[in-house]
Amino acid sequence: MLTEYIDSTERAAKIIREGGLVAFPTETVFGIGVDATNSDAVTKLFAAKGRPSNNPLIVHLDDGGNWARAAAELPQIASTLLNAFCPGPLTLVLPKLPAISDLVTAGLTTVGLRVPDHPIAREILRGAAVPVAAPSANRSGRPSGTTWQAVAEDLDGRIDAIFTADATSIGIESTVVDCSGSDPVVLRPGAITLEQLQRIVPQTRELRTGEMQQIAVSGQQVSSPGILHPHYQPIAEVFIMDLPPKDLSAEVFAVSAFCGVECSDGSDAFAMSKVFGSLEEYAAGFYEFLREVDRQSLEKVFVQTAPNDGIGKALRDRQRRAAGG
Ligand code: TXA
Ligand code: MG
Repeated sequence: MLTEYIDSTERAAKIIREGGLVAFPTETVFGIGVDATNSDAVTKLFAAKGRPSNNPLIVHLDDGGNWARAAAELPQIASTLLNAFCPGPLTLVLPKLPAISDLVTAGLTTVGLRVPDHPIAREILRGAAVPVAAPSANRSGRPSGTTWQAVAEDLDGRIDAIFTADATSIGIESTVVDCSGSDPVVLRPGAITLEQLQRIVPQTRELRTGEMQQIAVSGQQVSSPGILHPHYQPIAEVFIMDLPPKDLSAEVFAVSAFCGVECSDGSDAFAMSKVFGSLEEYAAGFYEFLREVDRQSLEKVFVQTAPNDGIGKALRDRQRRAAGG
């Protein structure tokens, strides 16, 4: 397939309406959008990404007021969170509307719903006028695409079009919150923090470690199947450290990279290194750094642990998974 490089939201919306696959920017990462009511289009999307069919997709809408285009009902807690954080980097897991393809939700009775806060995404969604399923724009298992060039690297020739917009600003995917039970449960940490959610709905909680393990061992239909699959992994081996290691041999330094935040000391010895000026910049540049390590054919990447607050929590989660843990 010949991939079109576009900068028209009308063109993007038309391709989606006609059953095609279009990568477009959101404030978190680029997504690959398809009509969530069109099972043929959704099938093509899973094939293009190489995504396991038991990992459900998030459905995107242009406006929170249109939730009934994807969800069968909006529980009170979900309505409260929607009003507080949407549009924005939050995904609400809600009872599914039958019109959404069962392939999108991997057979679950729930659907993830998100209203992105990005002018291009919203214009495309408005123009498409259908609920749009959009996973992150990367081959399954790879770091998510935060620039259109990264998207092209993974998906040129595999999807219909790529919107050539600027790099995404947040750089880490949305917070996924299960609102189908009595209390909201954070299934995937993201830019909206647990503290922010609890300020609005105090009983919001994280997935417990035990619950995670249960999910991992049961191997059955689970409430957030994405937890089971490899994610965000470059070809290079990833090591998580508190500080740049100093005791490596010259041979190892020559094939290694380092990235971190506010800790310049010791990073110069690496073949490639980047010290970000703030935690937000670290999150925004993390996936692109991992991809650059692969472009330079380096073998190892040493990653400084993100501080455990704000978006650092989400970044730590991505770092752990990038390292295969
Ligand atoms: O920021 C984002 O969320 C980006 C942009 C493009 O919107 N999208 C994204 O999609 O990260 P994806 O497919 O890479 O990740 C979706 C996550 C997976 O972990 C999946 O398991 C979970 O959301 N998910 C989707 N539907 C779900 C559901 N019904 N129940 C539980 N988890 C669900
Ligand atoms: Mg993804």
